[in-house]
Amino acid sequence: MATPMFEVDNLHVNIEDKEILKGVNLTINAGEIHALMGPNGSGKSTLASVVAGHPSYEVTEGSIRYKGEDILELEPNERAAKGIFLAFQYPTVIPGVSMANFLRMAVTNVRKSRAEEIEAAGGVATKLTPREFRRLMKEKMALLKMDESFATRYLNEGFSGGEKKRAEILQMALLEPSMAILDETDSGLDIDALRVVSEGVNALAGPEMGILLITHYQRLLDYIKPHFVHIMMDGRIVREGGPELAIELEARGYENIREELAAAAAV
Ligand SMILES: Nc1ncnc2c1ncn2[C@@H]1O[C@H](COP(=O)(O)OP(=O)(O)O)[C@@H](O)[C@H]1O
Ligand SMILES: [Mg+2]
Repeated sequence: MATPMFEVDNLHVNIEDKEILKGVNLTINAGEIHALMGPNGSGKSTLASVVAGHPSYEVTEGSIRYKGEDILELEPNERAAKGIFLAFQYPTVIPGVSMANFLRMAVTNVRKSRAEEIEAAGGVATKLTPREFRRLMKEKMALLKMDESFATRYLNEGFSGGEKKRAEILQMALLEPSMAILDETDSGLDIDALRVVSEGVNALAGPEMGILLITHYQRLLDYIKPHFVHIMMDGRIVREGGPELAIELEARGYENIREELAAAAAV
């Protein structure tokens, strides 16, 4: 069997000595879209933060492997350079920085680390000139059916929910990650944002990429068809299945599952 793209094994995570993740297991192969669902406070965003390398979270047990390599010892920028993308780490407002400039910085940083790796291995890395970057950006914007004027907008200044998501998806398209994690938070995506995310993910998904979609709402899954659905409650994945699990969840709600688990534990 091929090495999985992404493998979380018995992950335990504390925040300020309180255990939040209590043994999470999750395997994502290239070409697969997984949805991670669960009620508020179950630990979904904690998992995303730990993958990103957020310093407030302490891993007490378990591992996270990406293409077979344990990433927990890597710096956040090294994780990004290796091709892990997290969509929630988006800067709120950067006055005076246009989308295009912000994206060029992000892409240049990731490419630079990748180039250093290639050169350390004795290879020759090609650099991206400003002209090539513009061409690449145009190409990605066309793929995502985005208006070119978007690139000249200032970062997040007066952006709607949908525009913030568009910026995020464009960043993902330019970085060409192998593993993308999108945390849709619980603050509610408007219908425009939902459409942007789903069209973007559907345009970018492919046989080389693993995707983890974190969502509180079943709605997003009307637009993106995951291959696998996982339900997290109280720091553990308590149910796993195919897309039908999300439909069942919509019909029955989290409460029902919680009661089932409590009944099973009482036996
Ligand atoms: N920085 C933090 N400090 C203290 N507690 C936190 C912090 N981040 C998350 N938590 C707690 O961890 C639990 C899981 O939160 P979170 O991962 O955000 O859940 P979800 O994304 O599923 O809604 C919650 O009980 C939350 O209060
Ligand atoms: Mg969350």
